[in-house]
Amino acid sequence: MKGLILSGGRGTRLRPITHTSAKQLVPVANKPLLYYGIECIRDAGITDIGIVVGHTAEEIKAAVGDGSRWGVKVTYIPQSAPLGLAHAVKTAQPFLGEEPFVMYLGDNLVKDGIAPLVQEFITEKPNAEILLAHVQNPQDFGVAELEGERVVRLQEKPKQPRTDLALVGVYMFDPHIFTAIDTLKPSARGEYEITDAIQYLIENGCDVRSHIIRGWWKDTGKLEDMLEANRFVLDTLERNIQGTIDAASQVHGRVVIGAGTQIIRSEVRGPVIIGEGCHIEDAYIGPFTSVHDQTRIVHSEVEHSIILEQCSIENIEARISDSLLGRNVEVRREDRRPRVYRLMLGDNSQVSVL
Ligand code: TTP
Repeated sequence: MKGLILSGGRGTRLRPITHTSAKQLVPVANKPLLYYGIECIRDAGITDIGIVVGHTAEEIKAAVGDGSRWGVKVTYIPQSAPLGLAHAVKTAQPFLGEEPFVMYLGDNLVKDGIAPLVQEFITEKPNAEILLAHVQNPQDFGVAELEGERVVRLQEKPKQPRTDLALVGVYMFDPHIFTAIDTLKPSARGEYEITDAIQYLIENGCDVRSHIIRGWWKDTGKLEDMLEANRFVLDTLERNIQGTIDAASQVHGRVVIGAGTQIIRSEVRGPVIIGEGCHIEDAYIGPFTSVHDQTRIVHSEVEHSIILEQCSIENIEARISDSLLGRNVEVRREDRRPRVYRLMLGDNSQVSVL
């Protein structure tokens, strides 16, 4: 069995972060999202992993390397353009050959491992298996209709969903999927849809099964979902303090503080992770916050946010919440006159002021 992680795509819903960086590398609890996917596949006993890459290929290669860090072998598969999940699978056909494979969307996070499902797929040899979850907003997902475990119909983002069973970003296929993909035409949104390919398998007598997962999962394509993923992973943290905390500071609950980080006259209320070499002074860091390495937070309050490397937040009066800051971002209050907002924001930035 091989693994295939899809890490191309446009990432339009996470702009401007995705103007300069791959969304699959946004850190969740200070670890790139993509690493969770690699670990999930590795833990299912799969060591031969292809990663489909697009315009962020170089950054993904630099972050993941040859996979030896996880004991796996990674092969990079460039996709000519982000023409859809089925197009990405087709692009990977030379790598996948005749072997069955797990396809994992690189921007998804699945709590429960997939090892038992992979084993079942290997022994029972259906043609495809999809993972499903009950959701409250099925119209935003691919939605499945079942008869027992058998999938009888799939619809991509239906206006009137017939069930609340959404497709989770993990699929298993045998080579029949390539025959199905070869019949596809682009959908209304101009993409080759994997749901259409699976629907073809169903209509042509293939054995397409499903498994409803009960554990937590998240498609992190949007900011709120990325923050929720961060919240979920931070909730599993174990306290580990490596940096220094002065006598005037308080650090409550499940908090990780990296080496070389100084906490001065501040309060940190977990679950929180703060990376290495950070400077936190006269500050409040509230629950569900991830602060990456070399960041300064001074005279400011931050909660429920993801802050990447080398940011600087200084003298902000109101609490910063529900935010995602890219690398090297500066947010500071200045007293010089005239007292105006001075902004330098990339395309598609969003700022909410008081
Ligand atoms: P999506 O989130 O469906 O698409 P996207 O990344 O283009 O984002 P947006 O809709 O915000 O523009 O993609 C799911 C995963 O699959 C994600 O990790 C990117 C990857 N992908 C590819 O590798 N190739 C593709 O052609 C597409 C569409 C997505």
